[in-house]
Amino acid sequence: MNSYDGERMSELLESQGMKAVEDAASADLVVLNTCHIREKAAEKVYSQIGRLRRPDGSSPMIALAGCVAQAEGAEVLARTKMVDIVVGPQAYHHLPELIKKAASGKVVDIDMPLESKFDALPERRQVGASAFLTVQEGCDKFCTYCVVPYTRGAEVSRPWSRIVKEAHALVDKGAREITLLGQNVNAWTGEDEVGRNQGLDGLIRALAKIDGLERIRYTTSHPNDMTEGLIEAHGEIDKLMPFLHLPVQSGSNRILKAMNRAHTAESYLTLMYRLKEVRPDIALSGDFIVGFPGESEEDFQATLDLISEVGYSLAFSFAYSPRPGTPAADMDNQIDPEISRERLQRLQALLNQQQFDFNQQTIGRKATVLIERKGKKADQMIGKSPWLQSVIIEAPVAIGDLVEVTLTDAGPNSVKGQWLNQKQLATA
Ligand code: 5AD
Ligand code: SF4
Repeated sequence: MNSYDGERMSELLESQGMKAVEDAASADLVVLNTCHIREKAAEKVYSQIGRLRRPDGSSPMIALAGCVAQAEGAEVLARTKMVDIVVGPQAYHHLPELIKKAASGKVVDIDMPLESKFDALPERRQVGASAFLTVQEGCDKFCTYCVVPYTRGAEVSRPWSRIVKEAHALVDKGAREITLLGQNVNAWTGEDEVGRNQGLDGLIRALAKIDGLERIRYTTSHPNDMTEGLIEAHGEIDKLMPFLHLPVQSGSNRILKAMNRAHTAESYLTLMYRLKEVRPDIALSGDFIVGFPGESEEDFQATLDLISEVGYSLAFSFAYSPRPGTPAADMDNQIDPEISRERLQRLQALLNQQQFDFNQQTIGRKATVLIERKGKKADQMIGKSPWLQSVIIEAPVAIGDLVEVTLTDAGPNSVKGQWLNQKQLATA
């Protein structure tokens, strides 16, 4: 979502006549879009700010945007003299006015106004083959480790008609794949054009009708909002790609309870089996936190067992990071960081092995690949398989092409594809 917000901010500033430059040193204005989810990401920004000081001691105008801005507000100005503007993730549509005001003094805008920032943003500009589209923001789940409900605010779904309009604009500008975004994207609800209540599955069905849009994905989901309708959509809508990122965080019910996840390992596994039932080739992904307060070796083992049971094609895993203001940060059974680090290593070894195994299992399959960018070597192009693998192809294909390949070699993070050109397809 930060990537989407960054795009929207640069579109907004360009609509004001500003131009992007290659290096921060020559910029008049630098916007730093920040993440507060773990301490490391949040602290990194202060060293980045320091690096913006020019040899003569001057610096560009600096706007600190995103969730660090939201969480720290005016404290940012006390921590560093270099920042001119502090702007939260729900207020960045105010950037043009804030920049004007900053000419005569420092400004802070961390309001979460009722008016939608999306209405104040300009039309989408040129986009790549695969584009993001935010449909939902904020979270009401309050997992005890997480800052998102505080920094992004309450759950809000963007209206159906605005989403459909933005999807059309993205396709008109070159997108062939759209990833619907939300902190809790499968909690999206709204009314369609005839006033019927719809969930994310209804929205996906409507978007699938857009000519020229070939692929739809969505991220990130919560297990408790994984409705039967949405699961069935995976078996029924061809354009909905066979991939789902569904974080579980832990495989121990005791820890899940302490995390306030409101689901169990068993209820999560039931969802995963249902998904595999409706879409046998679905690739599954997740997020994991190790070293949550009170996590015993037995709890950790339950997470490893769950991972072995599911078989992930991709996963993101983190050592628990205490965040100020969250209930878990005040729990008195914090885990020694050394133990968390060691558990994270064991967990990642298993997940990496699963990712490699998944890539190997796909070798020999025919797949359609959406070409997204050039590779490192000349005539090398990189795209995505339906299962979100990076596929490296050496063939005269262009960005935005959907090409048929046979997957040939598996690496830990990518696979190679042999292009089946028109002639080969005709004889196949
Ligand atoms: N410490 C570590 N990881 C966290 N996440 C969220 N909050 C924390 C935290 N305090 C992880 C979760 C979430 C992902 C986006 O970040 O796994 O799904
Ligand atoms: Fe954070 Fe996700 Fe939990 Fe919401 S559901 S509080 S965003 S981890």
